[in-house]
Amino acid sequence: MQLGVCYYPEHWPQERWAIDAKLMRQAGISLVRIAEFAWVLMEPREGEFNWNWLDQAIEVLAAEDLQVVLGTPTASPPPWLCRAHPDILPVDIQGRRRRYGSRRHYCANSTIYRQHTERIVSSMASRYGDHPAVVGWQIDNEFGCHDTARCYCETCAVAFRHWLETKYETINDLNQAWGTIFWSQTYGDWNEIDPPNLTIAEPNPSHVLDYYRFSSDKYVTYQQLQLTTLKSLISERHFVTTNFMSHYVDLNYHDLAKPLDFVTTSSYPTGLVDFGPTLYMPQSLRPVLAYDVGDPYITGLGHTLMRGFKPDRPFWVMEQQCGNVNWSNYNTGVSPGTIRLWTWHAIASGAEAVLYFRWRASLYAQEQFHSGLLHHDASSAVGYDDLESIKLDHSLMSEIASAPKETQIAFLLDYDSVWAVHVQPHHRDFDYMRSIFIYYRALQRLGLTADILSVDADLSHYEIIIVPAAFLATEEIVASLKAFAEAGGTVMLGVRSGAKTINNQFTDQPLPGLYRNLLGINVSDWHSIPPGISYYLSSSIPDLDGSATVWAESLKPLNSDPQSQDPDLQILAQYTSGPFNSNAALTERKVGAGRAFYLGWYPNEQQAEALLAYVAAQAGVHSVVELPDGLIAYQRGPYLILLNFTEEPQIATVKGKSISVGPRDLEVVNTNES
Ligand code: GAL
Ligand code: ZN
Repeated sequence: MQLGVCYYPEHWPQERWAIDAKLMRQAGISLVRIAEFAWVLMEPREGEFNWNWLDQAIEVLAAEDLQVVLGTPTASPPPWLCRAHPDILPVDIQGRRRRYGSRRHYCANSTIYRQHTERIVSSMASRYGDHPAVVGWQIDNEFGCHDTARCYCETCAVAFRHWLETKYETINDLNQAWGTIFWSQTYGDWNEIDPPNLTIAEPNPSHVLDYYRFSSDKYVTYQQLQLTTLKSLISERHFVTTNFMSHYVDLNYHDLAKPLDFVTTSSYPTGLVDFGPTLYMPQSLRPVLAYDVGDPYITGLGHTLMRGFKPDRPFWVMEQQCGNVNWSNYNTGVSPGTIRLWTWHAIASGAEAVLYFRWRASLYAQEQFHSGLLHHDASSAVGYDDLESIKLDHSLMSEIASAPKETQIAFLLDYDSVWAVHVQPHHRDFDYMRSIFIYYRALQRLGLTADILSVDADLSHYEIIIVPAAFLATEEIVASLKAFAEAGGTVMLGVRSGAKTINNQFTDQPLPGLYRNLLGINVSDWHSIPPGISYYLSSSIPDLDGSATVWAESLKPLNSDPQSQDPDLQILAQYTSGPFNSNAALTERKVGAGRAFYLGWYPNEQQAEALLAYVAAQAGVHSVVELPDGLIAYQRGPYLILLNFTEEPQIATVKGKSISVGPRDLEVVNTNES
């Protein structure tokens, strides 16, 4: 386990570097990430390289035994490059060519940009590829940040046509797959196809889904270019990674993660709470949680996602918030103890290193109001002070970082479904990640940990697999879930499952499409429910009663013949009002040695918790801990880590025993001993 910091030596006078390095070491920091935005210093004019400053910066850090992670600087192409080749600049969905002057202003498909990328990355790798103080490399910085996953320039249009030709081979196959006859948009030639922006009405959803896939693939190949360049020049000792954004879904992180040595993430808990409308913090939690900790359930979801992108390798938090951010709605300041808690949260979730962003608050430019471990005037800020107490935790943290992290429950995350729902949500509040989050938070409150995996992951170590909206169904996914259930596993599927084909067309089969035999049901009708309307429900499961909002489906046994009813199918909830009155809303079916549940409505928080408590009990998965709100638990090997994100002491009940956890503090319990 290591702690680190993101440092920008180029922002400070050289005389200061040695002082900074010494302060870092004294604080228990051993890793320093540098250089990811410093292209213009490395290469002030085309072909004119200047490495002196970076040589010296690395030397100064190495003199304090600090290990260096080098960022390739391609997230911020310098003005000279953009002026010389304006068509490397991306075009946004509005068709506007974007300007340079900040960062991420490049099209990852541009051949010229790729040539310049290869040049700067190979020059850098040749120089530092065997440097003893360098331990690894971060490729670029946060692909897709500032809404740059998708570019709509002419280069991308041409590349998209090639991508489609490789995928479909004939234009007729593409026309079939997209259903282009609708509104008379049948293509006669590949050259007639454009990116799906600037259309009068909404573009064809199959077209859009392919554009999302293509755009993600573009970054996979762009990353691969850097990876191959680096790997051919650097020592085997050096790792190569990139930094993902905690809850970001515009790029397929499973694909990006595959060739990397491990993945890393950014974690900005207070920023996220006020920023994204998708994963919202319920009003009821606000008074419970300390005001400055963010929503630990949202933060935890981000870490859990990272653990699943490369399940066999611990992840790193390459950027950990260590004070206020500058990019959110409110930019809450942070109190003593919070940064220690965030650091522990990352480690308990499966991180092996945590690097704080950033070392010292900047005196100039865009992020002047972003905090660092040091204030603008170099005095210690709350983050630096927290490092004092984190130092005392170091050996326990290390032990936990290397403890096993088996869990019995997993969600499946499928980008095709995420994107297809995004393209046609059919209800303002229907969002794939949000539906995962509702269940995820429910599990956390029940004291159960889960993984989030790709649909092709090995499921054999799990007891329960949850797919909140298995929207796009393929024979392979269905077969894998069926095999899992038959072997004794429990499958939990939610609304809209099986509705779509891989081409993002509606299935011509009765819903839930390919899933109906596994589930033994038919969805006879479905409704998107506007705010203010509820369909009432009753259930034999404690606390599941209430009403369906957002989305409801009317379920019927697949075999409705009263003479030959499915003996394995049980109805666990029914509608008691509205158009689906007296029809089933939740079913459970025995499948081989296991079972499959189908929940026919979009649950609220309490319902998700009641349902999962029941499902877990049926599957024989038991929590060892009872938790009040704001107290979060992670099981790592024999250790149960209890993190209190409130300002009051909280009591957890662990195997019947009360454990008190102080405000903004934590306890580690060995559950083998208790
Ligand atoms: C991250 C980014 C950093 C910095 C930080 C501020 O998204 O990678 O460079 O901008 O946000 O919170
Ligand atoms: Zn482009």
